[in-house]
Amino acid sequence: MKVLENPQDVGKLCQSWRNDGLQIGFIATMGALHEGHLSLLRRAVAENDRTCASIFVNPLQFDDPDDLRSYPVNMEGDLELCKKHGCDMAFSGTMESFFPEADNPHMVKRIDPGGCASDLEGVYRPGFFDGVVTIVDRLFRIVGNCKAYFGEKDFQQTLVVRHLSHQLKDSNIEIEIVVCPTVRAKSGLALSSRNQRLETCDIIAANQIYRALKKTQRAWQCSVRDRKSLSRTLRITLEHPLISVDYAEVRNPDDWSSMANQMDAAIGLVAARVGGVRLIDSLRLDQPACKTLHLT
Ligand code: PAF
Repeated sequence: MKVLENPQDVGKLCQSWRNDGLQIGFIATMGALHEGHLSLLRRAVAENDRTCASIFVNPLQFDDPDDLRSYPVNMEGDLELCKKHGCDMAFSGTMESFFPEADNPHMVKRIDPGGCASDLEGVYRPGFFDGVVTIVDRLFRIVGNCKAYFGEKDFQQTLVVRHLSHQLKDSNIEIEIVVCPTVRAKSGLALSSRNQRLETCDIIAANQIYRALKKTQRAWQCSVRDRKSLSRTLRITLEHPLISVDYAEVRNPDDWSSMANQMDAAIGLVAARVGGVRLIDSLRLDQPACKTLHLT
């Protein structure tokens, strides 16, 4: 596996692969890789001729300096995992190398993430999505035409990067976004790099998030289609002394509408703090449970 640090070298290697007629799979990560990332990597390796991954903790998407400081970093372990799972190239970089045009990181011109970024995470984490889109735009421009793999857990992020991929067509960059099922622990807790910071009692509380999403999914399976009652089921089931909910609601995943009450497609979305750790999760209510991968 090649390990690169210079975005120009990354771009050249990807271009040489394309010149040889090879299809590229790409996974953008902030490192601290877990089974969720590895499931994206496995799928990219299976579906493409060459696969590359970026490992970069992007300061632009953190509004809380403590959160950035405590974000887990394990570059050596991450590179080992990438290699083991058949990745052909992994790259990292610095703010300076990704944004050479900016005199300093505060001068980086942020990209507008579009309308679907304006609520939920967009409200609770101001600046988060423009930070995500600004780095992902840069990574997509470096890698070039590819299939890019993202996890469904961060559902709103998948909408935002899809919007970005439509915009990049104007620059003749073709990115196919592939959204992959959430990987969960046996208990149902969605895997996240932040789970490492949960104490045992917090993990027990955090499991309630999946239970609440499943209960809401069962309501859907029993033909409940009323958005307000589905959202109510989600919120009530989430009630727990150790969980502080930022938002818990049901939306139409196709049009992202929070208005229509009778739903023909639905996703439950949760963001909550447990023991000082902010967790997010989502579950399609209208799809069979086999869309979720559980660790054995
Ligand atoms: O999902 C993430 O880990 C990050 O938001 C991403 C897409 C790597 C951008 O930094």
